[in-house]
Amino acid sequence: MKTINCCLIGTGRAGMIHARNYNGRIRGAKLLAMCDANPEALTAASEEVNAEYLYSDYKDAIKNEQIDAVIIVAPTKFHKEIAIAAANAHKHVFCEKPLAKNEEEAQEIIDACAKNNVKLQVGFMRRFDASFQEAKSIVDSGAIGEVTLIKSLTHGPSEPKKWMFDIRNSSGPIGEVNSHDFDSLRWMAGSEIKSIYAIGNNFRSPEVKEEYPDYYDTVAMVIEFEDGKLGMIDGAQYVQYGYDARMEILGTKGSILVGDQGKCSVTVANSDQQISKPAMPSWRYLFHDAYIREDQAFIDSITNDETPLVTGHDGLMAIKAVRCGLKSLLENRVVKVE
Ligand SMILES: NC(=O)c1ccc[n+]([C@@H]2O[C@H](COP(=O)([O-])OP(=O)(O)OC[C@H]3O[C@@H](n4cnc5c(N)ncnc54)[C@H](O)[C@@H]3O)[C@@H](O)[C@H]2O)c1
Repeated sequence: MKTINCCLIGTGRAGMIHARNYNGRIRGAKLLAMCDANPEALTAASEEVNAEYLYSDYKDAIKNEQIDAVIIVAPTKFHKEIAIAAANAHKHVFCEKPLAKNEEEAQEIIDACAKNNVKLQVGFMRRFDASFQEAKSIVDSGAIGEVTLIKSLTHGPSEPKKWMFDIRNSSGPIGEVNSHDFDSLRWMAGSEIKSIYAIGNNFRSPEVKEEYPDYYDTVAMVIEFEDGKLGMIDGAQYVQYGYDARMEILGTKGSILVGDQGKCSVTVANSDQQISKPAMPSWRYLFHDAYIREDQAFIDSITNDETPLVTGHDGLMAIKAVRCGLKSLLENRVVKVE
């Protein structure tokens, strides 16, 4: 079986998760090259993982004919140009979420990959998490009857960076954390989102209210699917207590809970007769194995010539849902997802 030679483009926070995976954890793949526009980031990455070729410009990287696939983990504003150039150079494309800045760009990436007959997988790693996959197979088995309502939440611990306060750039929590929930809801529902109503408020950063009156750190969304199923998503940033991603699926004959707030199954009881457990610190920790399985699935889809589990269409629909969610929040009305 041919080894799939990969080039990681972007060696930052999320990039290094993939670098460590492709550096020996993924069957049938090799981390042949890495590329980062920042020489310091590239040097630090090359000190941690082995890659034969190092590039500061992705245009040079994709000229390397030994490279079969690119893993794009550069900032989102560069995804379109890198993905299209890679597809046109006949490289398979894995692209972190969000696939692009907007739906038009996402469609251009999808078209370029289709035209060049290369795979395109988008980085919604929750679909590869063992608990989410178990829930999906229980849903598909009919064990909880017909799905009626799906609830999903993501809360992030970190203080927002300054640029995030301008929600026309960041989309706020709807874009920063809830794009994963939109994808999970669509996946579990097996139906497209028909409408969204979102309300939000800024509870944790009152000092920016004057400069950024639209900024919100907490959002609640009510969703209707095309086939009539119902959905609810909540999102929050700067919650501080930890990273929290959970889902509840209600059916006509039962319900499924996915996830909890604990880092591991440890509960501490003390002499004050209090019980505590460590909270989940980060998405890197919670989805550690899901990222490995996601990368393995990408390589398997190339090796076996199969459609990736998370497609360009899924990436596009999440971008659309984020746009409509934000529009609903800003205009305070139900928005139909065309
Ligand atoms: N799946 C997830 O849960 C998840 C989590 C975090 C980030 N992401 C996504 O991953 C992407 C990167 O995010 P991050 O947090 O790792 O960012 P980051 O800023 O930590 O890293 C980005 C890296 O890309 C490099 N870079 C910038 N421009 C480049 C270019 N033109 N060519 C090559 N390298 C370039 C930067 O120097 C930096 O090292 C974003 O699209 C983000 O949304 C996804």
